[in-house]
Amino acid sequence: MTTRSLATNANNSCACSTSGSSSSSSRNSRNSAVIAALRRRQRQRQSRETLASRRGVTTTTLVRNKAVSQPPANSASSSDSEGGTGGEKKKKGQGKSSSVVDGVLVVPPERIRNFSIIAHIDHGKSTIADRLLEITDTVAQRDMQAQLLDGMDLERERGITIKLNSARMNYTSKKDGETYVLNLIDTPGHVDFSYEVSRSLAACEGALLVVDASQGVEAQTLANVYLALENDLEIVPVLNKIDLPAADCDRVAQEIEDVLGLDATEAVQCSAKAGIGMEDILEDIVRLVPPPRVPVEGEPLRALIFDSYFDTYRGVVVVFRVFDGEVNVGDKIELMNTGAKYDVLELGVMKPNKIPVQTLRPGDVGYCVAGIKSVKDARVGDTITLTKNRAEKPLSGYSEAVPMVYCGLFPTDTDRYNDLRDALEKLQLNDASLNYEPEVSSAMGFGFRCGFLGLLHMEVVQERLEREYNLDLITTAPSVVYHVYMANGEMLTVANPADLPDAAGRDRIEEPFVKLELFTPKEYVGSLMELATQRRGEYIDMTFLSQDRTCLRYEIPLGEVVTDFFDQLKGRSKGYASMEYSFHEYRENDLVRLDVMINGEVAEPLATITHRSKAYGIGRGLVDKLKELIPRQQFKIPIQAAIGNKVIASTQLSAMRKDVLAKCYGGDISRKKKLLKKQAAGKKRMKAFGKVEISQEAFMAVLQIDQSNVGE
Ligand code: GTP
Repeated sequence: MTTRSLATNANNSCACSTSGSSSSSSRNSRNSAVIAALRRRQRQRQSRETLASRRGVTTTTLVRNKAVSQPPANSASSSDSEGGTGGEKKKKGQGKSSSVVDGVLVVPPERIRNFSIIAHIDHGKSTIADRLLEITDTVAQRDMQAQLLDGMDLERERGITIKLNSARMNYTSKKDGETYVLNLIDTPGHVDFSYEVSRSLAACEGALLVVDASQGVEAQTLANVYLALENDLEIVPVLNKIDLPAADCDRVAQEIEDVLGLDATEAVQCSAKAGIGMEDILEDIVRLVPPPRVPVEGEPLRALIFDSYFDTYRGVVVVFRVFDGEVNVGDKIELMNTGAKYDVLELGVMKPNKIPVQTLRPGDVGYCVAGIKSVKDARVGDTITLTKNRAEKPLSGYSEAVPMVYCGLFPTDTDRYNDLRDALEKLQLNDASLNYEPEVSSAMGFGFRCGFLGLLHMEVVQERLEREYNLDLITTAPSVVYHVYMANGEMLTVANPADLPDAAGRDRIEEPFVKLELFTPKEYVGSLMELATQRRGEYIDMTFLSQDRTCLRYEIPLGEVVTDFFDQLKGRSKGYASMEYSFHEYRENDLVRLDVMINGEVAEPLATITHRSKAYGIGRGLVDKLKELIPRQQFKIPIQAAIGNKVIASTQLSAMRKDVLAKCYGGDISRKKKLLKKQAAGKKRMKAFGKVEISQEAFMAVLQIDQSNVGE
């Protein structure tokens, strides 16, 4: 698995723009700007709170600048407060304007809180989400299961969140007695899915920043904080896993202060596993996350689509957040960027099961079914408005995800090309960061060249296509995008090594460089520095996060990071180090195409682009690995690695010998000789015409080479 930061959103300050604009601002200056912004925001909050306490009102009252009703005597648990079926009921003992409509509690916007949960991978987001759903009685105890919001089988099997997921909860505050509607959006932690995080953050006003109290700030914690700040969200830190013996809240709170500039001394200390501190988290959300802005009467509808998926029976279902105006079942909606118009057939909220409602109001998060047949009509980031009262400007939406890694996807059964195209189209709806275009390969036939945000993303997409769409696929080795300048001045972008033009016509090749940050306990610094140097990393600096944790910074070719770098990092640091990277710039380098020839034929899908100094080592590793992976045939198979016409490494897969003499019990030697001669002639013919079958594993051989032995 690899991690990468902020790479895909051009809203991000260090987004992946090929112009390399982000390169000018150094990471250090960005860090201090972020810390300054956080401190400023925290000061503002503190002064707001001081002011509030002097006046004897809650902070949220000040934020929304509106008086709220007095707390009721009873502060009943949330789900008891619903349960009505259909129609509209006024709530007793709650703010004047709360009511139960269609079995769902509706409150004024000042009592809505939309928040995401962000954290480094495995710091406990999904487990906290589970506990919050439990204590707000959103999900009945009998229906509860671990990582409830991780709905996909793949998520459960791998124990990671891949898709954002939302849930609407009701919570009656113990402090002011008011019932609040909390829209929670659980996000993935792995940075290959940071596009999901950035989308969910755009739909929220606050973010719950979960930090593992036994580990502290990790690379992804920082990357997610940047994302939250770019969306101008209120960040509420919590320290999780305090039940672990290694938990050290004081040290981690200090680290949050030093690295993120966020005062975490008051942060809730919780254990999602043991269910400690969950109520305090809810109180903090109610107190610190700002409500949506106060709606203006009669303003046109503007709702941001932040997720969508394809339902075989209902067409495209879009998940959105209403910013202005309201939408009702039966309304005619327009998707502002595509101009497509549809009638709303069903609206609803996720609790987390879908509950249909008639109306969605400002601040609400919900879904819409409108019989949308074409997946192209409803893209994430589009704005929904009403045709009868059309908004003038769409919401700012999201910038397109910029893929970091490409690979070819081919159906093993060539007849299923069209099925693969349909599947990719539908999957792209659910995974907006997936990119694809048709590709034809002489060896593999018709398929697609797909762009991913990282290797984990690539694996997940392949697995989802195979499971959800019942396809059998072959994936070629991943490659990054190179800029190839031709002698005639033309610039080509090459994502498939097989497309690299011959050296004769080329002037130079540029490869993408990333800024890499490694967070590690100090005892592993030496080993990680060695790793980064082996991978052509250029050392920038090293800073101390705390007494025994450091941050190493490098500029390193992306092509070196997307292979097994992350596995090496985890291995060398016994799992304690973490990393993130963001695109920096394109740099010229002495790069060559390494071809692999099997049985004398160039195997296009196995070609790689590599630095000349490493070509021999990689070539050697590749042919040896392929020798292990290609099944033996009845004839000898030469396996060679070559740069242009020059073979730089070669090996031979020996023939599998059929014992043609098995049936000869004794007998004349000439009979045996005749049989062996016949066998040799047959093998010669097979060699000339025989086609070698290459397994999926062999296509990934380049990822399995132990690069630590591949010297300069
Ligand atoms: P991703 O979605 O993959 O980023 O992970 P996550 O941040 O959602 O973490 P998740 O909730 O899946 O938890 C990761 C692991 O930590 C699981 O094995 C949890 O059981 C465990 N865990 C979560 N919270 C606690 C806690 O408070 N204490 C202990 N001891 N373990 C916890």
